[in-house]
Amino acid sequence: MKVLVTGGTGYIGSHTVVELIEAGHEVVILDNLVNSQPVVVDRISQITGTSPTLAVGDIGDPDLVDRVLTEYEPEVVIHFAGLKAVGESVAQPLRYYRNNVSGTITLLERLDAHEIRKLVFSSSATVYGDPQTLPITEDAPLSAVNPYGGTKLQIEQVLRDVAVSDDRWRFAALRYFNPAGAHVSGLMGEDPTDTPNNLLPYITQVAVGRREKVRVFGDDYDTPDGTGVRDYVHVVDLARGHLAAIETMSEHRGFDAWNLGTGVGTSVLELINTFSEVNGVEVPYEIVDRRSGDSASSYTDPAKAHRDLGWKATHDLAAMCRDSWRWQSQNPEGYGG
Ligand code: NAD
Ligand code: WQD
Repeated sequence: MKVLVTGGTGYIGSHTVVELIEAGHEVVILDNLVNSQPVVVDRISQITGTSPTLAVGDIGDPDLVDRVLTEYEPEVVIHFAGLKAVGESVAQPLRYYRNNVSGTITLLERLDAHEIRKLVFSSSATVYGDPQTLPITEDAPLSAVNPYGGTKLQIEQVLRDVAVSDDRWRFAALRYFNPAGAHVSGLMGEDPTDTPNNLLPYITQVAVGRREKVRVFGDDYDTPDGTGVRDYVHVVDLARGHLAAIETMSEHRGFDAWNLGTGVGTSVLELINTFSEVNGVEVPYEIVDRRSGDSASSYTDPAKAHRDLGWKATHDLAAMCRDSWRWQSQNPEGYGG
């Protein structure tokens, strides 16, 4: 298939592009490079032997999107493009709603005009808010606890409404739990431009000496060791989830959502200890106050994705830790190094 990947030079997008190319699909990336670098295309080409086309520009630019659709005629879109920093979204809500929600609406309008009506959307476990029941299934109540989460919820609602208006649309919302890990080659991984918000990139930057110690946000949660529990899922497993979604798209009409996670909960201290053990590196840490907005535990029941998409995570926590460390130790300054 010819696949348009918005946000395809980003962390999850780049790993998905590799899996798409390796499965024989043809890829064009649309990315404005607000949070990624063009060198990612060289890394993709080193890994796969094929260089995907990169169109640099914004999903919210209708003329540019038109030109890309006319020139490349994709059959399906995987839509990763979006801003994703929770704290930044609290400080700059209008920028987040404009970029993520308005950008997606422009993209959908142009796709409709070109009669391209299959789209996989990067949603997030954040749409479950502070989960009341564990494990989290797709029918759990939805709520937004910050503007970033608000954009994901609103986009899902837009997709639902559009699907109702015209039954030729097919939408798969994939709600990722906590993406982690890197490509096994060590050539691609997560490269936060600022101080990492997420735990594993913070750990790798401490391990490589860029930061002094990990701050563990609270050890008084109602969890086995008191630290927050999350469902970390390897980015290559996530990437393969997108392949599964496009390959089964003809079987699913309208809008549907699937949780992508392992179903295994891991605490902050377990992650730090596993990282140290499998890589043989010290990770100094200190316990500090809780981070506001964090919930105690979040993990999925991945049964629906297995049943409908034939997808299951295959990488364990040790693989995520090894692969993240290979990426960070081979690229101490990320793609800029
Ligand atoms: P990322 O920032 O690495 O990738 C997003 C890409 O989109 C970047 O390359 C950025 O330059 C591009 N982009 C942003 N706005 C754009 C616009 N208006 N037009 C064109 N390109 C634009 O993030 P990621 O971790 O790869 O996340 C990909 C998607 O998955 C995002 O939608 C994110 O919200 C979602 N998601 C991420 C996580 C996570 O923890 N990483 C979890 C759940 C969901
Ligand atoms: C994981 C655990 C922290 C950093 C976020 C977004 C969510 C989704 C994924 C996009 C928690 C603890 C963290 C640190 C710590 N993104 N922690 N020290 O908060 O589950 O989810 O990323 O959709 O929307 O909210 O992930 O990696 O930030 O935190 O102790 O320096 O690690 O308290 O328990 P989170 P995270």
